[in-house]
Amino acid sequence: MSALSDPNKIVFFSTQPYDKTFFDQYNDDFGFELEFFETQLNSQTVILIEKATTVCVFVNDIVNEAVIKQLAEKGVKIIALRCAGFNNVDLEAAKKYQMKVCRVPAYSPQAVAEHAMAMILTLNRKTHKAYNRVREQNFSLNGLLGFDLFGKTIGIIGTGNIGKAFAKIALGFGCKVLAYDVAANPEMEQLGVTFVSLEVIFKTSDIISLHCPLNEQTKHIINKKTIDLMKKNVMIINTSRGALIETNSVIEGLKEEKIGYLGIDVYEQEEKLFFKDLSDDIIQDDAIQCLMSFPNVLVTAHQAFFTNEALTQIALVTFANIKSLLARNDIDNKAALLV
Ligand code: NAI
Repeated sequence: MSALSDPNKIVFFSTQPYDKTFFDQYNDDFGFELEFFETQLNSQTVILIEKATTVCVFVNDIVNEAVIKQLAEKGVKIIALRCAGFNNVDLEAAKKYQMKVCRVPAYSPQAVAEHAMAMILTLNRKTHKAYNRVREQNFSLNGLLGFDLFGKTIGIIGTGNIGKAFAKIALGFGCKVLAYDVAANPEMEQLGVTFVSLEVIFKTSDIISLHCPLNEQTKHIINKKTIDLMKKNVMIINTSRGALIETNSVIEGLKEEKIGYLGIDVYEQEEKLFFKDLSDDIIQDDAIQCLMSFPNVLVTAHQAFFTNEALTQIALVTFANIKSLLARNDIDNKAALLV
């Protein structure tokens, strides 16, 4: 360790009050010194780190080569992601600067899968509208017509921890479940999931739910060409990463009434919006303003992970990862260790 860095100290970025609550609560068994910053980690905010061996970051922190170089100069040795996705970290640069990078691979796949289903049910049965209506003593059903999920075809892209949990929920509703992944999963086939090509997913699904990571192959996987393949009135659900969707193409698809419903918990430009209260601000992002104006679009602000069970696991696994890396530069759970 660098003479500058304290192995016991962890500096957190992009923290919200609930991060502090959960990490403080579970630190008793670990005894780390915790410092919390609300600000995002980026090349301007690295300067806040003093004598820490570990930084703990979240989905919208910027951990590119420039930041990693600055972290290394500060004596930081470990980048601990308190999330599953890691597309915001330059892993090659981390290797170059001999930085260890860990994540929490499967803190609660159910939390995200259940939120994806909640979005489907809300868009379909319009419970958000019904809630407001009856509070104004409007008991009319006009405009609330939904469809049975039973018997509909749901196409899942990415059948890892979350995709698998979501498939089980969809099967429970009596849906026909199709899936695409770079590798088929025999356990899921036994449950009744049929693995097909991406093209078949796009052409035959009534609902498409994205559960793959963001990478070079999946960036803008929902684009003009793939939307053209889809059934009219298709429902698209994205609880994975914003850049899986090419936003302008989806806006066009909604305007042309090709896309019947859109549920997004993530958004390509979410970094400037999500996790903040901007209720008094003028939002400069025209695409999100446009999306939020459609009656058949539901936006939630990256909350799919946000359950008590998930936050507990995130705190416990993050601490265990850091403890293990400090003790022996390794982690038993190989999925948790990225570099
Ligand atoms: P996982 O690593 O268990 O599963 C990802 C699956 O996607 C794997 O089966 C993998 O083979 C597959 N995949 C990789 N490249 C693909 C491609 N080109 N096409 C199709 N499939 C491909 O990850 P997990 O835990 O299921 O999470 C999935 C994603 O969900 C994460 O990468 C993250 O972006 C997102 N997430 C969102 C949260 C939220 O709060 N909205 C919370 C947690 C994760």
